[in-house]
This record gives sequence, structure tokens and C-alpha cells, in this order.
Amino acid sequence: MKKYFIQTFGCQMNVYDGWRIAAMLDARGMQKTDDIANADVIILNTCAVRAKATDKVYSALGRIRLIKKPDAIMGIVGCVARESGSDAFKRVPDLNFVLGPQSYHKLPEILENPDMRLLNIELSGLEKFDEMPQMESSPLVTYVPIQEGCNHCCTYCIVPYTRGREISRSFADCVRDVELAAQTGAIEICFLGQNVNGYKYIDENGTTYRLSDLIKAAANFDTVKRIRFTSSYPTEMTDDLIDMFQNEPKLLPFLNMPIQSGSPDVLKRMNRPYDLNQYMDIVHKLKLARSDIQISSDFIVGFPGETDDDFEQTLNIAKTVKYINSYSFKYSPRPHTAAAIMPNQIPENIKSKRLAILDAQLNENQRAFNESCVGKTLTCLCEGLDKTGKHLVYRTPYMQQCIVAKPDGAPHDIAEIEITAANKASLRGKIID
Ligand code: SAH
Ligand code: F3S
Repeated sequence: MKKYFIQTFGCQMNVYDGWRIAAMLDARGMQKTDDIANADVIILNTCAVRAKATDKVYSALGRIRLIKKPDAIMGIVGCVARESGSDAFKRVPDLNFVLGPQSYHKLPEILENPDMRLLNIELSGLEKFDEMPQMESSPLVTYVPIQEGCNHCCTYCIVPYTRGREISRSFADCVRDVELAAQTGAIEICFLGQNVNGYKYIDENGTTYRLSDLIKAAANFDTVKRIRFTSSYPTEMTDDLIDMFQNEPKLLPFLNMPIQSGSPDVLKRMNRPYDLNQYMDIVHKLKLARSDIQISSDFIVGFPGETDDDFEQTLNIAKTVKYINSYSFKYSPRPHTAAAIMPNQIPENIKSKRLAILDAQLNENQRAFNESCVGKTLTCLCEGLDKTGKHLVYRTPYMQQCIVAKPDGAPHDIAEIEITAANKASLRGKIID
């Protein structure tokens, strides 16, 4: 039996793509292996969002080529494939295939003709979703991609180049995926998209479907207990979607809504042309809809031209909104983006200093929120045993990890847990019978 090795880098969309690739190879009678030296097919499913992510892929390829079987087929799929194109073959001459994020369903072509070199970085839209076999079982948390690509064109971001223009899958296809997931083991559905709340599909009768319609449809499945979505663009948080936080109890009270910077000047140069009042209005509406809602953000520090004062404003907004579970990055110039050639690029040492200051604030927010949970009872989803095998790890509605003592019998997938202790990284709790 032929074996394949797959390693996934980057975002949840890549994790999903990795599942589909694995399902496709399983359906062809191949077997997954973690042992690269034993694999017949080696796939790196890649991320290009920051230069470091791309470098990681090429250094992994450098290591793999020394230990792989001489006749193993090796290639990259995903955003680095699209970013590098045929240059990837120049950088790593023994690569066999380079397939972009919308053409990985072409992988069988190289399995049938291992002597060829396969390059396909076309943006073929939704074709891959129709071409790939479905998964036979679904994880407790199942990702359902509903749209791909992004029209926002933030000046720092390579995603519109690698994943293309926004395109929404049909409402019927998305609901069918939810149904299949619900029937095969999913308890939590996470709708995915680069600009997930921009989801818009008009069917042949002229009916328009939005993300709020998908949330309602998913909530109708009894076995689906939790629903969430990522990643959202602030000004596309429409009222119908905000209402869902009030009216649909299965929708988790937690939302990733990246602000990126707290400075209006930087936001303008990033081509994220919302003003801070508009952003704060949306935050207030969300809190009115559901008072226990928490918000997370992505931040970029050291964007070209960012002054100390601009950075101060980012720090202030992080304090004001009290974001939890957030991601912060140093600005990384990327090919095919406008910001890479902007003047006043910020030196690395200043970026590092600002990142450390912002991270300290974000950690403080997280610690304060975790501590505020002590004494509360939260409905949590089981992720399995911890490393010691003595405890269970549950995930709260806010994506915090909560460690509980292992009960005697089989654990419940969903449990009411009283939070008994907290630190900045995780919670401890006890299951309430
Ligand atoms: N909405 C998208 C986000 C894409 S990238 C999605 O979910 O797929 C994820 C995050 O990486 C962005 O929100 C941004 O904070 C960060 N990022 C994107 N381009 C970057 C760059 N050139 N340098 C540093 N961080 C970047
Ligand atoms: Fe990238 Fe901005 Fe879209 S961060 S994915 S261009 S919303």
C-alpha cells in the first residue's frame, strides 16, 4: 500500500484543505504516514501570509529531500505554490508538483504520471469543492468553507493574490456539507472564509442567502450544538448577522473581528477604510445583542510609516475593547502587495519592541478575562486527553482550554463545567453532573 505524508501550515482554511487532500488520497487506497522516510508521496500544504511562513516551507523541503526515498514524489500545495509558481522548481529542483490553493484536486495527475513536473496555480474558483470526495467521518469540530478569496485588498495582504477574488459557494452545497458533518460526528460547525461575513449567494429564483441564513440552517440540526465562523471583516457585520448573537443560542458568544491597527492614518494606508467610531459602534451593537460576547482581533505592528503615536492608538484600542485570544504580527513585506514598496518601512528592532509591548497588553487582557471566568459554569466541548493522560481538555465557548480531572466512565462530548481556577494560558474546572 502506497503511503503519503502531509504537513499543513497556516490558517484554518489550510487545515480544511489538508483534510480534503487526505480524504482524496485515502479514497485512492493510500495510507497516511508520519514517517517522511517511508512516504511515497510528500505534500507540504503551505502558507505565504508572512515571509517567515514561506521560509519555513523551503527550509522544511531542504530537510525532507535529504531523508526521503529516492523515488518519492514531493511537492507543495497552497499559497506558497501560488506565490512562487515555477520559481519553486528553480529553488528546489527535485520538486515534482506545485499546486495552488484552488488546484490541489489536480494532484492525481502527478500520481498517474510521476515522471512529469506538474505546475498549476490557476484560480479555478469552486471547482475543487466538486471534484474532491467527501470525508467519511467528521471531527467534533468540523470546518465548512462557504466562500473563498477576498475582495478587500488590504495593501499588506497576499491572500487576494493567492486565493483570488471572493466567491461564495451555493447555499444548498454549504447546507449539504453541514448535514453530512452532522450525520458523521460533528458537534461544532465552524463556517470558514477569508471574508466569511461577506458570504452572499443568489439562487436561480433570485433569493439572496447570507451567513445569517447558514447559521439558522445549521442550528436546525439537533446534533449540532455549537456554531461559529471566521474570519470577519468589521464593516460587513450586518444587522441580520448581529441579531443572530441575540436569537440563536447555538452561535457561540465569541467573534474574531480583526481591527489590525488603532490608527486612522495607518488604517487608511492599509486600505481598511473604516473609522474607529464605526468599529466601536459595531462592538456596542454586538454587546447589546449578547452581553457576554467577547471579541478577538488580529494586529499588525510596524506597518510602513507607523509612528509612536499610531502605535499608542493601537495599544489604546486593545485596552478599550479588551480583546481576548488575539493574534499580533510584525508587518512583513510580501510580493504582489502595495505596502511592500511604500516608503518609510519600519526597522526590525522597532517592530520587535512594539510587538512585545502589544503582546504584554494582550496577555494582560487574557489573564483578566480568564480570571473573570472563575466561579462561572460554561458549556464546553471535549478535545480529548492532555499529554499526561490524566486529565481531559475541554474548549470553552471562548476557545479557552479548560483542564478537568478524567471521570471514570467515557467523557461526554459536551459538558457543563464549573471553572475553579485560571491563569493566563488556561482554566481548570470540574464537570457538573
Ligand atoms: N481574513 C483572512 C486573514 C488573512 S491573514 C483569513 O481569515 O483568511 C491573517 C492575518 O495575518 C491578518 O488578519 C493580518 O493580521 C496578518 N497579516 C496578513 N498579511 C500580513 C503581513 N504582510 N504582515 C504581517 N501580518 C500580516
Ligand atoms: Fe487579507 Fe484584508 Fe482580505 S487581511 S484576506 S485582504 S480582509
